[in-house]
Amino acid sequence: MSKFADTLVSWQRQHGRHDLPWQQTRDPYRVWLSEIMLQQTQVDTVIPYYNRFLQHFPDIASLAAAPQDAVLAQWSGLGYYARARNLHKAAQIVMAEHGGRFPQTAAGLVELPGIGRSTAAAIASFCFGERAAILDGNVKRVLCRHRGVDGFPGERAVETHLWALAEALLPAEGIDTYTQALMDLGATLCTRSRPTCAICPVAADCVARETGRQAELPAARPRKPVPQRALDVLVLRARRGNASRVLMERRPASGIWGGLYSLPECQEGESPLACAQRRFGITATEAEALPPVRHSFTHFTLTLTPWLVELPTLPRMASDDNLYWADADTLPSLGLPAPIRRLLADVPALLETQE
Ligand code: ADE
Repeated sequence: MSKFADTLVSWQRQHGRHDLPWQQTRDPYRVWLSEIMLQQTQVDTVIPYYNRFLQHFPDIASLAAAPQDAVLAQWSGLGYYARARNLHKAAQIVMAEHGGRFPQTAAGLVELPGIGRSTAAAIASFCFGERAAILDGNVKRVLCRHRGVDGFPGERAVETHLWALAEALLPAEGIDTYTQALMDLGATLCTRSRPTCAICPVAADCVARETGRQAELPAARPRKPVPQRALDVLVLRARRGNASRVLMERRPASGIWGGLYSLPECQEGESPLACAQRRFGITATEAEALPPVRHSFTHFTLTLTPWLVELPTLPRMASDDNLYWADADTLPSLGLPAPIRRLLADVPALLETQE
């Protein structure tokens, strides 16, 4: 038997959980019910639901015969109701196709609705002593840490590797204790955050522990690439006397940068000169692209391209409370989004006194 399994089995006998309501039985109906409830719900929450459910539906025949609403009513509050619908369906299949007797192997169990590979293995190991490997979220965490498995465990290649590992580690005997040990280790010591390595039975050869990578393993889901958005903005710079000014526009109160002053934005596909004409009636002949500025939001990355349009004089424009010609003195006191402030700071001699 692997040293890992051997150690865990001894640990489970001494320190594992032995008094959970579904541990006092090898009845597949009861074990199955507990495993389905425990798929997405913590032990403490499950216990009262489990006991109540069994009072209403003490065996698979009573569950199969119940109306779906009655089953859902007993599930009410546990969430993930597909579990309850599948449970009900599976009970009816066991009654109709298996003469009321559960399939006695993991391979048979996995054919039933709501029973995946790991759940089938858990039931088969607890009830029938089958040497079948489990690999739920907790076990993935334990194995990733202990063996130093990199990569996101939800990724196919990583998961395949973990299944192979899980199978290679199985003990020759005592599979039920071993299965429970893995579950208990993941739930009580090898927790997602701040694992209790000091009293972990397999800490001595745990790769994550040796390398201090407990917090990094298992690897997090890779972030989806964030969408990129591009925006052209106008830097309309006008001479006024010896100084120059730049046109700032207050953004709508709600939405990104709500109420802050920014640079006028071009529409998608619109040239800066066309934008100056459309928005402000300004006819200009040249727009100079300045270095773009990138800014990350939670859900997208914005690349701002400023277009410098030089105007010989301050143009006449209809008055608008949201528009403001800022100069070197007034610009610093305006509320500006950080990337706009950065962008303006990078424009060479933007507001300097002109010759
Ligand atoms: N989580 C999933 N199955 C479990 C079980 N049998 N005991 C404790 N926690 C579990």
